[in-house]
Amino acid sequence: MTEPDLDALFTAASAVRGQAHAPYSGFRVGAALRDEAGRIHAGCNVENAAYPVGTCAEAGAIAAMIAAGGRQIRAILVLADSPAPVTPCGACRQRIREFAGSDTPILSGDSSGLRARYTLDQLLPASFGPEHFVHGS
Ligand code: THU
Repeated sequence: MTEPDLDALFTAASAVRGQAHAPYSGFRVGAALRDEAGRIHAGCNVENAAYPVGTCAEAGAIAAMIAAGGRQIRAILVLADSPAPVTPCGACRQRIREFAGSDTPILSGDSSGLRARYTLDQLLPASFGPEHFVHGS
């Protein structure tokens, strides 16, 4: 990924992070991804008074991609302010897995810039995915 690509992901993730609804945790998260057409889709966490109903920023970004017709994640950036670089939760790793490849970059950043870089396979090794289905059996 070229640096301008990264800049655009940061701009989108930072803007959407400002829209986060996180009154319970106070932990605001923005996620931005690039799809197979080069378009960027973004989402923020949306918490709920009934805690388990809240959704992660990554889920919002994926929903935005699907709604716009995108089907492949080429890279995804998760942005938050945290002592340790923020990586997607377990459920979101699986959500990303549905639309990404083993080498797809999963990037972690904060307001000072890029903090960590992983591949999907590093965060979710030996994973289960769409190709495990044998349709018609
Ligand atoms: N959260 C995300 O949105 N993405 C992550 O990668 C980690 C956690 C949200 C969920 C919840 O609203 C808050 O951060 C605290 O867990």
